[in-house]
Amino acid sequence: MSVYSYPAPCSPDLKEPKSVDDCLSQARRLIRRIGPAENVRTSVAPELVVRPGDRDVIVTLPDQDQFVAEAARQALMENGAERVDFLYPVDLVGKNPGVASVEDGWKELELLKEGKASGTMEDLVTGMGLVEATARYLDNHPEYTGVFIDVAGANAGRGLGKHGEKFRGFWPFNTWEWFLSRGHTFPLAVWEEFERRIVEPLGKAAKVRITDPEGTFLEFALSAEEAKRWELAAMVHGHLLMNPLQATAGDVRELRKESLDAPPVFPRVTGCLAGTANHCGFFPRIEAYFENDRLVEVRGGGKYGDGIRALMDETRDLQWPGYPGKGLFWFCDTALCTAVGVHRRRADLFRSYWVYPNLPERTRAGVFHHGFGSRTYATEKEWGIHAKKHRMPQGHIHVHNYFATFEVALRGSNYWHKIIDKGRIAALDEPEVRALAARHGDPDSLLRYDWNPPLPGINCDGNYWEDYAPDPVAYLKKRLKAGQSI
Ligand SMILES: [Fe+2]
Repeated sequence: MSVYSYPAPCSPDLKEPKSVDDCLSQARRLIRRIGPAENVRTSVAPELVVRPGDRDVIVTLPDQDQFVAEAARQALMENGAERVDFLYPVDLVGKNPGVASVEDGWKELELLKEGKASGTMEDLVTGMGLVEATARYLDNHPEYTGVFIDVAGANAGRGLGKHGEKFRGFWPFNTWEWFLSRGHTFPLAVWEEFERRIVEPLGKAAKVRITDPEGTFLEFALSAEEAKRWELAAMVHGHLLMNPLQATAGDVRELRKESLDAPPVFPRVTGCLAGTANHCGFFPRIEAYFENDRLVEVRGGGKYGDGIRALMDETRDLQWPGYPGKGLFWFCDTALCTAVGVHRRRADLFRSYWVYPNLPERTRAGVFHHGFGSRTYATEKEWGIHAKKHRMPQGHIHVHNYFATFEVALRGSNYWHKIIDKGRIAALDEPEVRALAARHGDPDSLLRYDWNPPLPGINCDGNYWEDYAPDPVAYLKKRLKAGQSI
């Protein structure tokens, strides 16, 4: 048997619940009680936030696991909620969402063209406008004081408009498999400590290099001031902003109510982004080449690549306001999620009510989702007006990297500090983080990744170029059939 230098495939062995009781202890672990003045934390880490006396509504999907729903309802009521009801898309917009499969990774570009890019939508789960519809529902149902909805970002709270203060948290728990993941109950003190250790070195970075065994090789350099601005903006708990443009773009600063006087930092990312997955699913291996942030060439990628090449051609002479050159696609996203114990969702990979069925895999600590397209230079309003006038799709599309190494050359030295090493967040293995973890349990098990995807020739037997790169889904299906982890 061959030995590989990347961690072997694995996934957690979760047992399908047979009763509400099988879900109750996890529901109780997810509870966070808050007082009247506290704000709900907005992040990719879902919790069951409860304020005494709350009358909650949980917006979910047609395949909601009923044991999970009842356990969540019971746990919320044990902790002070007066009432917990569930709402389905059909109650809000008169119909159910269609189903999506990770076989159709190419659809991420179609969603961008339809105005449903992941970073721009208020309703990231279905793209049907459920958040806005829920706001209208709350207009007519003032009895509800708390809402659980959507899966990520600040979108949901913002989209609820004047009902924003009723936002209690996300609801990604339509499947039992995701609900039972231990990644959601990781101790917050340890989580915040290792995230701090990821972000702090960014302010000292003179150069940055990102490499991945699927073929990514990206580099950029920063001035001392740019690096400091990046560090100060990169912390979004659960979803760190590891690209300077992403961290300093107008929309992020607008959301944080920060000044828009200084222009965003364009880090001049140069090199190749390569991979086989995005938020929608999988596609034949793609290579996207960037020069000074601008996408200049796309090779491979099957239907996804064909679509990007066509849109590049169509928009070659267009320009975003404030951007340093022409073209629709700019490197604008290197997000690092940090949920240690989560995994790729298997139960609904091929039949999902999520419009982005492959979104959950990016949540695991160490998985990068890189993106290209655009972010706002200044205000969202200006961006929107420009996009409409020139018919330019707003937002960006993605490529995931599982085993990336992300390193920074510290200013004034020749030392390259590895923040992520072959997909492993280096801070998780630092003695201080392990000591802190030991207060909450066995550090080895607490800080372990429960899931590693299989990449033949990289972390398991096989040939990456023959067995995986041309058709990742066929490979994953073959493993599933053989009872192997994906
Ligand atoms: Fe993104």
